[in-house]
Amino acid sequence: MRFGHFDDSKREYVITQPDTPLPWINYLGCEAYFGIISNTAGGYSFYRDARLRRLTRYRYNNAPFDVGGRYLYLRDNDSGEFWSPSWQPTRTKLDKYECRHGMGYTTIGSSYGKIEAQTIYFVPLGETLEIWKFQVTNRRKQAARLSIFSSIEFCLWDAQDDATNFQRNFSTGQVEIVDEVIYHKTEYRERRNHFAWFACSEKLAGFDTQRDTFLGAYRSWDNPAAVERGKSFNSVAHGWAPHGSHHVKVNLKPGETREIIFVLGYHENPVDQKFDPPDSQTINKRTVKPVIAKYLDGKNVTAAFEGLRRYWDGLLGVYQVDSPDLHANRMVNIWNAYQCMATFNLSRSASFYESGIGRGLGFRDSNQDLLGFVHMVPSRARERILDIAATQLAGGGAFHQYQPLTKRGNNDIGSGFNDDPHWLTLGVATYIKETGDWSILDEPVQFENEPGSEQPLYEHLRRSFNYTLERIGPHGLPLIGRADWNDCLNLNCFSDTPGQSFQTTTNKDGRVAESVFIAGLFVLAGKELAAIAKKRGLNKEAERCLAEAAKMEKVVYRHGWDGAWFVRAYDDFGKPIGSKVCKEGKIFTESQGMCIMAGIGLKDGKAKRALASVNKHLATKHGIVLQQPAFSKYYIHMGEISSYPPGYKENAGIFCHYNPWIIISETMVGNGNRAFDYYTRINPSARENIGDRHRCEPYVFAQMIAGKDAPTHGEAKNSWLTGTAAWTYFTATQWILGIRTEFDGLRVDPVIPAKWKGFTVTRRFRGNTYVIEVRNPKGKQRGVKKLLVNGREIAGNVLPVRPPQSKPIPVEAVLEG
Ligand code: BGC
Ligand code: NOJ
Repeated sequence: MRFGHFDDSKREYVITQPDTPLPWINYLGCEAYFGIISNTAGGYSFYRDARLRRLTRYRYNNAPFDVGGRYLYLRDNDSGEFWSPSWQPTRTKLDKYECRHGMGYTTIGSSYGKIEAQTIYFVPLGETLEIWKFQVTNRRKQAARLSIFSSIEFCLWDAQDDATNFQRNFSTGQVEIVDEVIYHKTEYRERRNHFAWFACSEKLAGFDTQRDTFLGAYRSWDNPAAVERGKSFNSVAHGWAPHGSHHVKVNLKPGETREIIFVLGYHENPVDQKFDPPDSQTINKRTVKPVIAKYLDGKNVTAAFEGLRRYWDGLLGVYQVDSPDLHANRMVNIWNAYQCMATFNLSRSASFYESGIGRGLGFRDSNQDLLGFVHMVPSRARERILDIAATQLAGGGAFHQYQPLTKRGNNDIGSGFNDDPHWLTLGVATYIKETGDWSILDEPVQFENEPGSEQPLYEHLRRSFNYTLERIGPHGLPLIGRADWNDCLNLNCFSDTPGQSFQTTTNKDGRVAESVFIAGLFVLAGKELAAIAKKRGLNKEAERCLAEAAKMEKVVYRHGWDGAWFVRAYDDFGKPIGSKVCKEGKIFTESQGMCIMAGIGLKDGKAKRALASVNKHLATKHGIVLQQPAFSKYYIHMGEISSYPPGYKENAGIFCHYNPWIIISETMVGNGNRAFDYYTRINPSARENIGDRHRCEPYVFAQMIAGKDAPTHGEAKNSWLTGTAAWTYFTATQWILGIRTEFDGLRVDPVIPAKWKGFTVTRRFRGNTYVIEVRNPKGKQRGVKKLLVNGREIAGNVLPVRPPQSKPIPVEAVLEG
């Protein structure tokens, strides 16, 4: 069952009924100001940091699920009837409803009683504000006398404090109302120099800024007193819950359309110019007024919207594919790349499943997110790498998370996740392969944000590598620490206290529990670091890295191979996890993918053997589960992984993030059919028809799909903010389609289904545009035997870097197996 359809030519997903199984959301803004918007206009906005600079309030996990947002009410002033043109919150049955989520904007259109309404929500590039462009049309035969009420609930900035500290917060709220603008200035009188503003392009019939006056006692968003009676109260908030509501009256002739612009913005004043006059408590509005005036003008709004479209044309134009598979095309060309922008910006911090207060940006997460982002805006990737690296600890370890506003490591979560440092190496390697910008390695970067501690970025990578060498366990494998990529494999935690956080509680200083996964990651990162060192002329360093990697590989063969697959770890008692000797959790996916990606087992058939085991024990029609058999009870020496009921999350759920690792591994052994089959199983577009089972948005990946042990096998959860976005993008573009960035050029090495006759990729790379046509006349899965550039055959299958030229460069590749 479907709840809408793709409109690929417009790069939109069209939702045709408002009551989707879960709110289907989109992100507004892609730089500093962000909003989350659902298909019924629910959601919230923030500046940079969803915890520390929240503009509007949101109550998660509500009933109904999604209440509170950017609401507009329409009221027929003759009949007194009112409704929400975005369906929520009145949920009046609309005659027509359509939500279109696009690249950085959302349009919600509807019709009720022959009054048509359409709102376009978006954030102009370079601005810290969001626009709601509202149009209303009278399709009746008679004139319509209408009222429009806007409604947002302001958050008192720190979302955590806002949701808990009521004894203070019910007394601090302050606003100003001047002309058609509502200014929210709570705490501006003291240490803040920022405020929010909510403006309207029309003359107001009234306003409300006190939520409970607007709603009325014991009423809710579906029947606000002001809307019901058709007249604002002109309330001025003092304490309680500051709110923003404009009331506009319009009379429309038959066929007439009116456009009304609402703008919600964030603004900062210089600290010494906060007030006007200076000795008053009144906001100095001189700096914000030009911005307000600009965006209340329809011409500027149209221009800004066009600018946003062109921006996305440019970003998506870096990689476009025309393949025989509709779902792959759609994801690669549009939605997967778009999702990567959201994960780059927000890591795992703010969605409808991440409250924005719990987690800043993850060290490992942000590094992996670069995989799907670096080709779009390399300069921002560079800046991000340097920011992340500056939070690294001097000993090579990492703060697990950091706050985007302060860019500092988050002490509450701490460190000790022993995989973390290696992801920095992979992030940097990915960046250099895309850009050829070796200079990044010489950038002086602090450790732990300590001035004076600067070292070249390269030194950070060296310490990342050494970090593992200094933490080797009894079998010679890396110690796992708090956890590795699998945050829930807490082998040193031994938690027996209800409610204690597995992620933050004090752990044993474990010297026994080891991770085969980190061993694989170490080998992979070690090979990258060796290549980087060699480029820098540090041949000894390069040799050392390769020698250590080779040594680790041997250890993996000795203690990390279980006969038919790679072991996952050793616990605190030195017993294997993910081995045939275990009762539950005999085989895990992550160590298969990571070891094979590191090249372990490729030569002697172990990789193929491990992949056959994955196929036999772990692959389901909805994707590959994390392990089997699922843990049937809580094991204190395993930690959070066994806290989940079987089939969910890390306990044998289909945790989508590592599915691409298996897909890459399949391409590495030349199995294009299976690689693409696995890719399609988790591809949200390919799952659109089972929307009632999948339930999440069909245009973005979700973190998890319930595994075969769960009663709801196939049900997705936690959409949008997941490492799956970057990894599937990277996998589809670089390993399946096989147009792969390398330090010295662009490799053409597709591994595709045998039935594909070919495909074409247009790729911008280091100043040139390549139009690469791959032909597969003999029905092979891999093996470029001939590569023609500009009609001339070249040796090998790497397109060397060449001086930029204005004309696209035609490339032809033939698969001969
Ligand atoms: C989740 C993990 C997540 C961790 C840290 C756990 O509860 O299952 O997926 O990485 O929390 O937030
Ligand atoms: C989600 C976390 O953000 C990520 O860092 C972790 O690797 C996975 N969960 C697996 O536990």
